[in-house]
Amino acid sequence: MRTAGLVWLLAGLLALSLGHPIHAQPAEESIASPDGRLQVSVGTDEGGEPFYRLERDGRPLILSSRLGFLLKDAPPLNRNFRVQSVERRESDFTWQPLWGPVENIRDHYREMELELQEQDPPSRRMNLVFRLYDDGLGFRYVLPQQEQLTELVILSEETEFKLAGDYTAWWIPDDWDTYQLLYSEGPVSQMGRIRLEENEHTHTAGSRIRRGANTPLTMRTDRGVYLSIHEAALVDYAGMTLLPDRQQPLTLRCNLVPWPSGEKVFGRTPLRTPWRTIQVAEKPGGLIESQLILNLNEPSVLQDTSYLEPMKYVGIWWSMHLGITTWAREGGRHGATTAEAKRYIDFAAENGIRGVLIEGWNTGWESWSRQDNFDFRTPYPDFDMAEVVGYAHQRGVLIMGHHETGGQVEPYEKNLEQAFDQYRSLGIKAVKTGYAGLIRPLGHYHHGQWMVRHYQNVVETAARYGLMLNVHEPIKPTGLSRTYPNLMTGEGGRGMEWNAWSTGNPPSHTLHLPFTRLLAGPMDYTPGIFDLKLERFAEQQQPWNALGGLNTRGRVHTTLAKQLALYVVLYSPFQMAADLIENYQGHPAFEFIRQVAVDWSETRVLNGQIGQLLTIARRQRGTGDWFIGSITNETARSFPLGLDFLDPGKSYEATFYRDGLLANYRDNPTPLEVERRMVRAGESVVMRLAPGGGQAIVIREVNPRHPLPEN
Ligand code: NOJ
Repeated sequence: MRTAGLVWLLAGLLALSLGHPIHAQPAEESIASPDGRLQVSVGTDEGGEPFYRLERDGRPLILSSRLGFLLKDAPPLNRNFRVQSVERRESDFTWQPLWGPVENIRDHYREMELELQEQDPPSRRMNLVFRLYDDGLGFRYVLPQQEQLTELVILSEETEFKLAGDYTAWWIPDDWDTYQLLYSEGPVSQMGRIRLEENEHTHTAGSRIRRGANTPLTMRTDRGVYLSIHEAALVDYAGMTLLPDRQQPLTLRCNLVPWPSGEKVFGRTPLRTPWRTIQVAEKPGGLIESQLILNLNEPSVLQDTSYLEPMKYVGIWWSMHLGITTWAREGGRHGATTAEAKRYIDFAAENGIRGVLIEGWNTGWESWSRQDNFDFRTPYPDFDMAEVVGYAHQRGVLIMGHHETGGQVEPYEKNLEQAFDQYRSLGIKAVKTGYAGLIRPLGHYHHGQWMVRHYQNVVETAARYGLMLNVHEPIKPTGLSRTYPNLMTGEGGRGMEWNAWSTGNPPSHTLHLPFTRLLAGPMDYTPGIFDLKLERFAEQQQPWNALGGLNTRGRVHTTLAKQLALYVVLYSPFQMAADLIENYQGHPAFEFIRQVAVDWSETRVLNGQIGQLLTIARRQRGTGDWFIGSITNETARSFPLGLDFLDPGKSYEATFYRDGLLANYRDNPTPLEVERRMVRAGESVVMRLAPGGGQAIVIREVNPRHPLPEN
């Protein structure tokens, strides 16, 4: 990553009463964001308890909230502190991610670091770093190396978020294993009232009553300010969930995901926690445009990035989810055969799709729950790995490898180097990994420190083997793809597959994801289903899973135009064309998927209401073509959309893919109108979205000397 114009201003060291034993004298320090609108104050109160609070335009967003830790076999680190010194810094530079929704990211902040000194023995030190951007706050604890504190076991991180009102929240429950849940909307004070049973879930034990939320937790204040709490740079630490305080329901407490023993984090000093983040925006779309999470991560550490490549892909995948074929070879309906792989490769090559995912290629699926069932290397006898990969290379197609662990982490770690080495030697550059089911050994959770370490190990190992990753059932993203740009995308949300074998994703779901889960990072949602009622191959389907009380065949709850719009709305550098290729052949809507970009120079949110409506325009890197996606929930909408972002001096041709007049997601999802015409900058186009519908638009500059290629 290149760094342009680094300004690093050390604005002074304010040493405060060094050496004076002023026991528990309250102290408070403040900084403002570069635009002056956000202000954070941090200090210690009469008891020496550290706190912070956040204001916007002089009004409180987060009231005075406590900070600190409870430790095992040591006094708590949350009281009897004195502010020893304060360091202030300001930084303003712009960096260029190798891939992403924008090509330039401004990293402009003011920061202060408070050094706290415990007033009585053991006289430990703890630093608080608060970094304020125009679009929000990040803060972290730094425990310096010191004799009084070396090895430590964190029993609780005592960070609080004391809300200044009963904000409206959009949340999923604080499940420690899964993010594959539907969002709820309501006052924060009601958050604890939901039981997991009311929300469909995947494979988790599920008996624990969830009272809190997983992050990002997005909220709106009664003054209409939007904020979202999450974390950045989660490395060798436990994932944070938020739990309402029983006594003060508007106070959310950090609740770290535990080890089987109940302990939260094992560490040693020097120790830096992940950043606790609060993104703040005037409009919901401002949260989507915020780059705070990435900015709070370290620059890339990868030497070789030549293999990184955003791409679209198809795959031997949906047929398994539909129950037409199987992952396992037994039963005579095996999906991943050499012949089938070549058929997908041919389709990809003929349609400018760069990647082909092949699941169910390796032995072990037949004995899913047996320890060590997968070695991640042995293909089924009807799948000739070398032949398939060789054929793909001949045709200019990349194979996306697949390692499903079923949650068996130790066998995966044991085989990891050899499995990645096999992929590298074949010339494979991308791997999808999976952790479906409970983590073994039981008692560990997907979001606990043990798994955070595992996911990190896989990312670093993949980088050594020149492999890009698409992680399913991942740790939630926290911006680590800045440091490890081979961590391309992941799941960590309820994706398309739920429509195949559960009551499915309601139309509002894809209007919650961009304002919540996707604030954390890209998501491999796998859009692009054209056979929305899943009826074309119904006779061949043999149900293998039925969640949420599904009593008939699954189906997709959108119109066809909305499936296209999702390619623009749900950002991911790997975007799947998820349907069976039979459903694409000869279909006019497939032209949009052929054309749509996956790597962007600019992203603009043109309108957005959480759970209801979202329109995003993105500009393709390199060509400068614009792609617009607009989606709605159950409600039909019609509104004018100004094309203000186009260049006034240029002529453009637009292709509109809109819902047909009678389209609706319930019983008539496929009518689609395709219209092609010239458009001008500043022009207003009428957007018409059906119930559960959407619209996708391609806008290309017409250069008189280089006419547009025929679509
Ligand atoms: C769950 C993943 O999300 C899905 O994409 C995959 O096909 C299955 N696990 C099997 O690995």
